[in-house]
Amino acid sequence: MFDVEAIREEFPIFKRYPTLIYMDSACTTLKPQRVIDAVAYYYSELSGCSGRSIHKLSTRTNEAVEDAREKVAEFINAKTSEIIWTKNTSESINLVANSLTLRREENIVTTYIEHHSNLLPWQFLTKKFGAELRFIKVDSEGEIDISQAEKIIDPKTRLVAISHTSNVLGTSLPVEEIRKIAHDNDALVLADGAQSVPHFPVDVKKLGVDFLAFSGHKMCGPTGIGALYGRGEILEELPPAFVGGGMIKTVSFTEAEVALPPQKFEAGVQNYAGIIGLSEAIKFLESIGMQNIEKHEKKLMELLLNKVSNLDFVKIYGPLNIEKKIGILPFNIVAPNGEILIDPHDLAIMMDEIADIEIRSGMHCVEPFVKELGAEKGTARTSLYLYNKREEIIKFTETLEEIHTFIK
Ligand code: ALA
Repeated sequence: MFDVEAIREEFPIFKRYPTLIYMDSACTTLKPQRVIDAVAYYYSELSGCSGRSIHKLSTRTNEAVEDAREKVAEFINAKTSEIIWTKNTSESINLVANSLTLRREENIVTTYIEHHSNLLPWQFLTKKFGAELRFIKVDSEGEIDISQAEKIIDPKTRLVAISHTSNVLGTSLPVEEIRKIAHDNDALVLADGAQSVPHFPVDVKKLGVDFLAFSGHKMCGPTGIGALYGRGEILEELPPAFVGGGMIKTVSFTEAEVALPPQKFEAGVQNYAGIIGLSEAIKFLESIGMQNIEKHEKKLMELLLNKVSNLDFVKIYGPLNIEKKIGILPFNIVAPNGEILIDPHDLAIMMDEIADIEIRSGMHCVEPFVKELGAEKGTARTSLYLYNKREEIIKFTETLEEIHTFIK
């Protein structure tokens, strides 16, 4: 049984703020005590340097870091050597972009719905080499036209970078279909898993992508730790984006022989506390079950969609079909003529002040797509996770009505 109250007990923030209704998990999630303890465990009991010194603190740190790597690998069905530690999804994607050299005639393909972290690295990379950046169109329902993707992915495409699940609409892109087209053209595929890995079971072998990027802090883990999955054969060929300590076999004054993956990509001392915390977060999620988390979130989203779609002053962006979404709902309060009645930032402040409800507002780091939706000042966005409950959805809807009555 999914016991939401027992789950909430694990999050100390609810004791600090007993009336808190946290609906901003797409931005960052709350952290359970066991993750906080795992971070403290590194500093209080390990405090060593992994893979360098040979004394016991260093050796134990190394063991904890490699155990964590195994945990992350198993979580997404990868091999341990295919997991690279990074700061977050952005750094994971930058690592790939910074490792590539392009020819002028080559192109990178991405989509209209990308987070800035899966857009800017490709803008910078293509500009640097005078190559072309192409876009798969995504409509306001989060759908793509696969035939357009087939036209723009061609033998000159070096890499296709697509979000797995959108942080604006909560919809998923057909990654497997795109991957097939890309691989038929000998192009690499990178999926941004920032919003998929925390919310439903993700299997990289099934997806078949070459890279998958995700962040720890969106899945109950610490901030400042993320991972990049890279397919083994690709990682062997890819040059390191960052160089320095800990990523070499031997060094002379003029040359260096780099270590094997994944260490090859991990220059400098890593965020060991974060790594150990992320591993604990995964154990926590697994103890509940990713399928159970997905089911819980869908049930709540169904209720939220039912409630909010009955309010004629709410404009919802994207599909209303629960099967197409994770627990993310972008919206604005509008007049009968469709005009947006309140700046989404003001709406978010009112939600917080009136009812202790925390939501995100603005562009959600996806400015071009949010503007395409016709939301010049952005949207308000509710995003749910395993600790949310039905009463919170009811309170959220009542608060929306209260705010609308106040401002109309
Ligand atoms: N990607 C994060 C969000 O959607 C920051 O809020």
